[in-house]
Amino acid sequence: MCGIVGYLGEKDAYQIIVKGLQRLEYRGYDSAGVALINGGVNLYKCKGKVSDLIEHASGKDKSGTAGIGHTRWATHGEPNDVNAHPHKSMSGNLALIHNGIIENYASVKASLVEKGFKFQSETDTEVLVNFIESIYIEESVDLPEAVRKALNHVVGAYAIALIDKNNPNQLIVAKKSSPLVVGVGEGEFYLASDATPIIEYTKNVLYLEDEEIAVLTKGEEMRLFNIKKENKTPYIQELEMQLEAIEKGGYDHFMLKEIYEQPRSIEDSMRGRILLKKGIVNLGGIADYEQKLINAKRIIIVACGTSWHAGLVAEYLFEDYARVPVEVEYASEFRYRNPVLYENDIVIAISQSGETADTLAAIDLAKSKGATVLGVCNVVGSSISRATHGGSYTHAGPEIGVASTKAFTAQITVLTLMALHVAQKKGTMPASRFRALLHELAGVPKLVEKCFEEDEKIQTISARFKDAKNFLYLGRGYSFPVALEGALKLKEISYIHAEGYPAAEMKHGPIALIDEEMPVVVVANQGPSYEKVVSNIQEVKARKGIVIAIVTEGDVDVKAMADYTIEIPKIDESLIPFLSVIPQQLLSYHIAVMRECNVDQPRNLAKSVTVE
Ligand code: G6P
Repeated sequence: MCGIVGYLGEKDAYQIIVKGLQRLEYRGYDSAGVALINGGVNLYKCKGKVSDLIEHASGKDKSGTAGIGHTRWATHGEPNDVNAHPHKSMSGNLALIHNGIIENYASVKASLVEKGFKFQSETDTEVLVNFIESIYIEESVDLPEAVRKALNHVVGAYAIALIDKNNPNQLIVAKKSSPLVVGVGEGEFYLASDATPIIEYTKNVLYLEDEEIAVLTKGEEMRLFNIKKENKTPYIQELEMQLEAIEKGGYDHFMLKEIYEQPRSIEDSMRGRILLKKGIVNLGGIADYEQKLINAKRIIIVACGTSWHAGLVAEYLFEDYARVPVEVEYASEFRYRNPVLYENDIVIAISQSGETADTLAAIDLAKSKGATVLGVCNVVGSSISRATHGGSYTHAGPEIGVASTKAFTAQITVLTLMALHVAQKKGTMPASRFRALLHELAGVPKLVEKCFEEDEKIQTISARFKDAKNFLYLGRGYSFPVALEGALKLKEISYIHAEGYPAAEMKHGPIALIDEEMPVVVVANQGPSYEKVVSNIQEVKARKGIVIAIVTEGDVDVKAMADYTIEIPKIDESLIPFLSVIPQQLLSYHIAVMRECNVDQPRNLAKSVTVE
């Protein structure tokens, strides 16, 4: 987590860095800071958001054409002014920003303390900058070499940027397990944790590989090498991302914009992949592993958070369509529990950011055991997309709101296509059903659009329940993962406790919580389990619970029982998650706004979790 930004050129560095930090604030917002080279190294940093930093720095001289900036998600040391990045070395000559964790910082710090180094903060970053300085001084090497030597010694994850008061034309950057992008302009360089702060200045970027170090010198070509001292040729690629994609476009929040973008983002996920006339699915990124996927005796899905919920939907899809057993694992559990893996297992890693540390580690583990790993990622060029053997991008566009919305529906789009493709190739689905599903899937964006017609009603329901202390979310079959996702969305952004449960399992515990205060959101679409869900609703009503039911349009029975109903269009049972998740996203959004919560930057969370 944490966002890092830097600039080296002829322009006003402070403005570029602060704007970049605002774009990266989704990555962490405990504290923020900037260091500029202007004679010395000038620091501006404080606890709080980038807006607090702007206020803190106002009226001060912020001139300079080289600098670095950081927005923090605290790991070592509480969020306060002192622990905020950048951190200076003891001499005051160097300043460093860091995204990641230096795991052996304590032993490095102890050896530095013995040498007389003094520390102001509790951060591992201050240890690293002093470690670099100690090598620089003691071994009389140049600064890039001191960085290289230091990085050979440290254990953990890092994306770093270093400036030196005595060399105002140079910026040194490096990365391992945390992302770092360098933008290459005309005689100038930009750097950031992702491309969003860069694209308004240049579309030419280099994604650093793990253990690579780049030395950026104003007006010169970059020098790239790795920590083993091997020189590398920078692979500069041109980004396709548009600036509008990362701006709010008239919406109050990114989350709302991203909810409303879903008809388009789902369409983008399907583009070129559904060939209706030919009656086939075309997924180029997995073509080389197609046979393995078809022959797989088992699929294991690894993911975290919302992506894990998309994985649960995929479990139902692959089992239902392609008759292959699927296990869905939290990446953080999978990586540490000595899982049984066979060479003919297919592992699918799902991740919006493509940077989640636990998911990356799970991929490495699966690969080390010989499994084939396919990725379903949103961020092009991300670590997970590079670590996997093959995969399919979701193409949802940048997702900035910390609570994931359009990434979820894009993920299930790609996973539905994969499952359909495997089913067709394996012959586990009648051709007529395959064609019908393909048509229905192609029509999903229009149906999602229709779901928005209920937004006003959802706002009324939100106003009624905004002060609730607890919520229960219920669903069966394909709607069970959506119940989990609905509960997660509410927890994340409104801080109301919510639990998602399989509707029938409610009677084994959560039913004890139900009283006249408890809102229960039930997905009660028409389909194979409709009657059973109706019974579950009756169980809630018998205990005076308040039922908010998501029903198929034209429903009569549930409407007669529920306190509130929200309609979604009719669709095949297996595609229900695309529609039933929409009212749940809107409900949590409106409740959070009404509670005056920071919707796009909920407390304690970060969009991209690059620590374990
Ligand atoms: C964080 C985010 C969630 C996301 C999860 C997994 O917790 O706040 O929105 O679902 O990480 O992230 P990934 O990028 O791997 O999908």
